[in-house]
Amino acid sequence: MPEQTVRWVGGLDGRMEVIDQTLLPVELRFIHCRTVEQVREAIKVLRVRGAPAIGVAAAMGVVVAVQDASDDEREVLERVGHAAECLATSRPTAVNLFWAIDRMKRIAQECRGKGGRAIKEALLKEARAIRDEDAAMGRHIGDHGQHLVKEGCGVLTHCNAGSLATAEYGTALAPLYRAHELGRRFHVYADETRPLLQGARLTMWELQQAGIDCTLICDNTAAVVMRERKVNLALVGADRIAANGDTANKIGTYGVAVLAKHHGIPFYVAAPSSTFDLAIASGDQIPIEERGAEEVTHGFGRQTAPAGAKVYCPAFDVTPAELIAGIITERGLIEKPDKKTIAKMLK
Ligand code: MRU
Repeated sequence: MPEQTVRWVGGLDGRMEVIDQTLLPVELRFIHCRTVEQVREAIKVLRVRGAPAIGVAAAMGVVVAVQDASDDEREVLERVGHAAECLATSRPTAVNLFWAIDRMKRIAQECRGKGGRAIKEALLKEARAIRDEDAAMGRHIGDHGQHLVKEGCGVLTHCNAGSLATAEYGTALAPLYRAHELGRRFHVYADETRPLLQGARLTMWELQQAGIDCTLICDNTAAVVMRERKVNLALVGADRIAANGDTANKIGTYGVAVLAKHHGIPFYVAAPSSTFDLAIASGDQIPIEERGAEEVTHGFGRQTAPAGAKVYCPAFDVTPAELIAGIITERGLIEKPDKKTIAKMLK
């Protein structure tokens, strides 16, 4: 497996490091995040990305924010408040971000009265717990989903929902890693994933490192590999899942789900419970991030559209629950996801 994409090295006087994913696949470099503003920037420009990894990074960002504070309790609590506000404005769609920030704020409040040093230590412990829990969730998702990856099958995935997007093992890629560990042979088709090419740059890199047989396709080749019967399963991650199962994931996922339906191919989502937002009834309420035009007109520094071209660039889309055969969580597989089956699994 590739190295941990977000890590805390040492104790309270230690350091937060992330793989700068904007440099992959050409260069594997860790960067040291010294301030909460740097953590926010790393999330915003996708140095660290993928819903669970964003949550882990935000949790560690709160620790970074209090590291050099005095042991005065009021100062520490103020820093936590500021860090929470700053990080919450980094990216709007992945609910794991807000879930992790809320956990960190709650821990700080629970430690009120114990002094600044105790709060700082509790925050580091909580950030580490969020990381470790996510790593464990990936393993469990792998266990619960591996049976879908049958000997000799073809799997299509979109974006990157592997170890680079999580604490360790991945969500959509976890069943693939597990099936591979079990000695099963299968083939993965990775959608390139325009405009930022997470599939080409990250999923292909990860799968190659793991020794999994994979082929890169342009997003607009997905229909053809389905019609040619090269694919028997579509498996993607999620950034936020509403109470009824509607799922936000990388732009283009909805198209994959529609194609899969047309070709009679089961379409599965893999996500930990931290990606569910039961406070919202349906996908209509999921905030969808819109990104800058230059990501489309000047992908990776080269102009590919005429100056002044109007651009619409939502970073995510919502796949309606009725197109989803199942959601693989760390607690088990939710078949035919809807309000009832989801509530039952997550209760
Ligand atoms: O914009 P990104 O690269 O953060 O988008 C990531 C995705 O859409 C992933 O599929 C999702 O976060 C699941 S990651 C386990």
